[in-house]
Amino acid sequence: MSHRNMSVSIHFLTILVALFIARASCRALLWHPENRTALFVFGDSLFDPGNNNFLNTTSQYQANFYPYGETFFKHPTGRFSDGRIIPDFIAEYAGLPLIPPYLQPGKYEFMGGANFASAGAGALAETHSGFVVDLKSQLRQFEKIEKQLKKNFGDELAAKTISEAVYMFSIGGNDYGSPFFTNSTLFQSHSHEQYVAMVIGNLTSVISGIHSKGGRKFGVNSLGPLGCHPVMRALEGTGACSKELNELVKLHNGALAKALQKLGAKLDGFKYSNCDLFSVVMELIDNPPKYGFKEGKEACCGSGPYRGRTSCGGRRGETEYKLCPNPSEHIYFDSSHPPEKANQYYAELMWSGSINVTGPYNLEELFKPIHRQTKN
Ligand SMILES: *[C@@H]1O[C@H](CO)[C@@H](O)[C@H](O)[C@H]1NC(C)=O
Ligand SMILES: *[C@@H]1O[C@H](CO)[C@@H](O)[C@H](O)[C@H]1NC(C)=O
Ligand SMILES: *[C@@H]1O[C@H](CO)[C@@H](O)[C@H](O)[C@H]1NC(C)=O
Ligand SMILES: *[C@@H]1O[C@H](CO)[C@@H](O)[C@H](O)[C@H]1NC(C)=O
Ligand SMILES: *[C@@H]1O[C@H](CO)[C@@H](O)[C@H](O)[C@H]1NC(C)=O
Repeated sequence: MSHRNMSVSIHFLTILVALFIARASCRALLWHPENRTALFVFGDSLFDPGNNNFLNTTSQYQANFYPYGETFFKHPTGRFSDGRIIPDFIAEYAGLPLIPPYLQPGKYEFMGGANFASAGAGALAETHSGFVVDLKSQLRQFEKIEKQLKKNFGDELAAKTISEAVYMFSIGGNDYGSPFFTNSTLFQSHSHEQYVAMVIGNLTSVISGIHSKGGRKFGVNSLGPLGCHPVMRALEGTGACSKELNELVKLHNGALAKALQKLGAKLDGFKYSNCDLFSVVMELIDNPPKYGFKEGKEACCGSGPYRGRTSCGGRRGETEYKLCPNPSEHIYFDSSHPPEKANQYYAELMWSGSINVTGPYNLEELFKPIHRQTKN
């Protein structure tokens, strides 16, 4: 090899090495586990990205058929929406990839988090028992991942991931909604206050369970006005919101706020975010155009009054259902779930809502802890 050729190949090699280092450090910045705040998601259909696709359940608790998923994914994914759901947006805002459903077959390391939410699930084991993964079983799944992280990445990195992660919940809606459609002895044999105390007690013990594994940052939102879901308006006959269900929800939201404050006083390093979805959704229903929507009462997809009487889609034996041309004009996509556009609005408020809507922290602050002046 001549001197000249040698120097050219050394140059070439230098460039290659430089490129390699640039790529590697770029990857390190983007993917280094230490740079990522993981997101773990628990709950029901509002947060389920398709876990129930892998359960032996009934199509009532699944959304893996047309027209679900049409707007964004262009195919059904199992999400109860025309497109993305709230955790998808939160992951995006946090710079994370889509959080995979825990039950999806395949090898995942779950370093960026996992989603355990199961449509139909409640905080109470009795809620839709046998058809869904209840909240306590979701905690068991999380505990398996925690062990797996320790095994794969060592105790120190696993502990860091767990303690810096954010844990989001959507739970309670099915515990309060299901007694309106099935005979629930548990509901009938307790006062509303006692029933709410059981829901909150079970939610609290799951939060404490995550805390005992090292989790510190929690997003637990108030429930929206479930009584105004199209399915409830249809049930009411008059088309009004169900007062009884909305009263239950208000009891729950009051008890939740107190429980979270108590946890804050009791648990080391416990921080939380609570978005007042009741007021937010109520305001949306009352003034759709103010927020870029057209219809706050009738669902986009379904049949019967308010398209709330039967479910949306072709897999449930309903041959006749109606589908609106533009889901993003509606506050409800089907009888009880928002379309992507409303999910995005709720996610934005959870992420960066001001203290009168989302507090004492919002999710942005939990992901990148910049401490607010006013906190409790
Ligand atoms: C990523 O983590 C490394 C090591 O902890 C740190 O030096 C670096 O500044 C972080 N990068 C970003 C973009 O946060
Ligand atoms: C699924 O559930 C049905 C009804 O409960 C049962 O008959 C069937 O054996 C189950 N299938 C599997 C694969 O577990
Ligand atoms: C609930 O129980 C009552 C009385 O036992 C019965 O008439 C009714 O059909 C049941 N409703 C449902 C939804 O199972
Ligand atoms: C959790 O729910 C069950 C009913 O599923 C109830 O018996 C129990 O008391 C609840 N736990 C707490 C701590 O409230
Ligand atoms: C919350 O405060 C913001 C400004 O900080 C205001 O624009 C918004 O209307 C308030 N929302 C409610 C529900 O009070």
